[in-house]
Amino acid sequence: MMDDSALIAEGNHVNSESIKQELYIRQFAQGFLSLEGIGVLLLDSEFRIVEISEMICSLFGFNRADIIDQSAELWFDSLSLHPHPFDRSLLEGKTFRNRVLNRKRDKHSHKLMLDGEVLRENGMVSGAFILFRDVSHLLTLEEQIRRSDRLKTIGQIAAGTAHEIRNPLTAIKGFMQLLNKALSDRDMSKEQEFVSIVLSELERVNDLVSEFLLLSKPKEIKLVPIRMGTILHEILPMIRSEAMLYKVTVLYYPKPELPSILADKEQLKQVFLNLGKNAIEAMNGGGTLIIRECSYPYEPDRVAVEICDTGSGIPAEVLEKVFDPFFTTKPLGTGLGLSVCQRIVHDLGGSIEVSSDEGGTQFTVLMPHADARMD
Ligand SMILES: Nc1ncnc2c1ncn2[C@@H]1O[C@H](COP(=O)(O)OP(=O)(O)O)[C@@H](O)[C@H]1O
Ligand SMILES: [Mg+2]
Repeated sequence: MMDDSALIAEGNHVNSESIKQELYIRQFAQGFLSLEGIGVLLLDSEFRIVEISEMICSLFGFNRADIIDQSAELWFDSLSLHPHPFDRSLLEGKTFRNRVLNRKRDKHSHKLMLDGEVLRENGMVSGAFILFRDVSHLLTLEEQIRRSDRLKTIGQIAAGTAHEIRNPLTAIKGFMQLLNKALSDRDMSKEQEFVSIVLSELERVNDLVSEFLLLSKPKEIKLVPIRMGTILHEILPMIRSEAMLYKVTVLYYPKPELPSILADKEQLKQVFLNLGKNAIEAMNGGGTLIIRECSYPYEPDRVAVEICDTGSGIPAEVLEKVFDPFFTTKPLGTGLGLSVCQRIVHDLGGSIEVSSDEGGTQFTVLMPHADARMD
């Protein structure tokens, strides 16, 4: 049997346990609310917002204080979220999992997954909470793996067939040039015109095959530590002269203090040339091409080059296809430029990201630091 003093001690113990528990739960809640990758929205039994985490505020662009105590429906309307991502049926116990919500912010589109749960007190619903998870990065990763698999297959086909096409092409071209000369000696100008059409079409096939060959892995790649700036510096004259034809202004922002990467110089030149060419082609009639070296605080092991244009942008339904081999919206395009870029950058352990709106397009090439790759 316990005496009184033992009972009191026991009571104190229970009390301090629950205080401690409450303290930890409060700290957990605070920590949870400030997580970057996951957002929480807490609602009362009237569907009014009780608490909201910073992640959601910044993603949707508003101040926390402005919407606390507001009804969730009003909040959806102010954000033009139609249809509403969830409704009051949640408070009747209609919970949900993995509901998808797409959100565009600062040119970046975010894919969010929402889980809705109810809170109960003595069996009665007293409110609800919704978890927002940003899964955009996971999806990008998945998409990149799919793309690189597809590219590998194409690379194999390219390696097998491109040379077979190119060799007869060279022969045809040679004989056409001879024919051209023979026709010119006989003053057959009309026939000569036909031959020149054949020659220019041959040139096009040749360009296509050359790009196709780039898709297959070149035999000799030399990986050396090199700065992105060195590569950009070497191709800038080419980009500037192309830009001039299209009345495009080129702005280059170097950042010499960035660490080196490990890459094949010629290959990476090809990447930036393709991206620069696309940007310029998107601004026919004038615009500004910005090439910027930079690094991001959330990417401590990688350096980046941003290629931004003020072209007409890429509509969402086109955006998901731009890296597909042979996808092109240009009458004379090959649709291989971005596939080649993707292939090269991926093989070097980097990645390419794209974002676009009516104001223009930005391609970002991210490459790991040389020392991060060597160990
Ligand atoms: N900077 C850009 N602005 C607008 N659209 C672009 C841009 N870069 C690429 N694209 C789109 O992606 C498509 C594929 O590009 P790419 O693979 O280089 O092939 P191509 O340039 O031969 O069409 C282009 O046809 C175009 O529709
Ligand atoms: Mg191109």
